[in-house]
Amino acid sequence: MNYRRLGRYGLQLSDFSLGLWHNFGRDDDFVIARKLLLAAYEKGITVFDLANNYGPPPGSAEFTFGKVFSSDLKEHRNKMVITSKAGHLMWDGPYGDWGSRKYLVSSCDESLERMGLKYVDIFYSHRYDPNTALEETMGALDYIVRSGRALYVGLSKYPADKLKEAVAILKDLGTPCVVDQRRYSLLDRTPEKEHFALHKEMEIGCVSFSPLAQGQLTDKYIDGVPRDSRAAKESGFLQIDEVETNRQKVAKLREIAQQRGQTLAQMALAWQLAESVDPRYNKERVSSVIIGASRVEQLLDNLQALENTKFSNAELELIDKITL
Ligand SMILES: NC(=O)c1ccc[n+]([C@@H]2O[C@H](COP(=O)([O-])OP(=O)(O)OC[C@H]3O[C@@H](n4cnc5c(N)ncnc54)[C@H](OP(=O)(O)O)[C@@H]3O)[C@@H](O)[C@H]2O)c1
Repeated sequence: MNYRRLGRYGLQLSDFSLGLWHNFGRDDDFVIARKLLLAAYEKGITVFDLANNYGPPPGSAEFTFGKVFSSDLKEHRNKMVITSKAGHLMWDGPYGDWGSRKYLVSSCDESLERMGLKYVDIFYSHRYDPNTALEETMGALDYIVRSGRALYVGLSKYPADKLKEAVAILKDLGTPCVVDQRRYSLLDRTPEKEHFALHKEMEIGCVSFSPLAQGQLTDKYIDGVPRDSRAAKESGFLQIDEVETNRQKVAKLREIAQQRGQTLAQMALAWQLAESVDPRYNKERVSSVIIGASRVEQLLDNLQALENTKFSNAELELIDKITL
């Protein structure tokens, strides 16, 4: 495992983070969830990405994490980066959604309680709130750090212009935004349009999520939609239609992976950390890739991506041809 800096800031993140959006809820198998957390830490993953609403039900992933942390990982606290977020619907009424100070601060307190932590390492505003002044949301993040609830703050999914504005406000407040968290994969290269350039300009880090497009960039859906897969679940986060639409593209990408001696998942992850002589590929643009896994075998398979992150220009061009 390598560790990369968040822009010009001191915090270093492992190449891969483990995300707890799915597979760590109340209805998921606790034994598997615990094995996943411990296997990830043992393999050098130091970053555990959570949010108030991860579950289902909302809050239960933080609760599961807290249980494992307290039984197995407590003495390693200073070697771990634990994150949480608030910004999506968490509880009924006007104080449990979006970007008010009222919501962010009380939600952060609840997250700390569920996880049994004194502080989180990074607290994120989970999404831009068009109806709340950015000064208020950024002021809440600043307060969360100054009151000892978090060490650093980050933003997630902000449009480019709002990200720039928010980063400037936080800088003025003296609590810099150190990281932008966004969706990025071979099936969604949107951050290449504006955000990566902005990160460079503002000298902040970028953490990517859903790098396997929720499992589409694996061998899982070759012959249809397995019953135990995310696309088959009722949550609707991954639609079967989307899987069908991408099927041909995915098949072409799999051929390149096979020629490289990698699984498609390994190539899709390695590509995010790509080392190349091609200047278009600045490997520092993604500081950490957040992976999800529903079983330990997936995690171990995916971590092997680190064994080959070198891409020839011909390979990169072919990938561009298929995905751009
Ligand atoms: N900031 C935000 O708004 C935001 C939004 C989304 C996610 N995130 C973060 O990013 C994390 C990762 O997102 P994600 O779960 O969508 O990531 P992902 O890595 O794209 O998808 C993970 C899923 O792919 C399947 N998979 C993984 N490895 C596999 C393998 N080797 N073979 C077959 N299938 C495999 C599993 O699905 P099955 O269940 O089908 O086995 C697994 O749950 C989340 O946990 C969260 O922390 C943040």
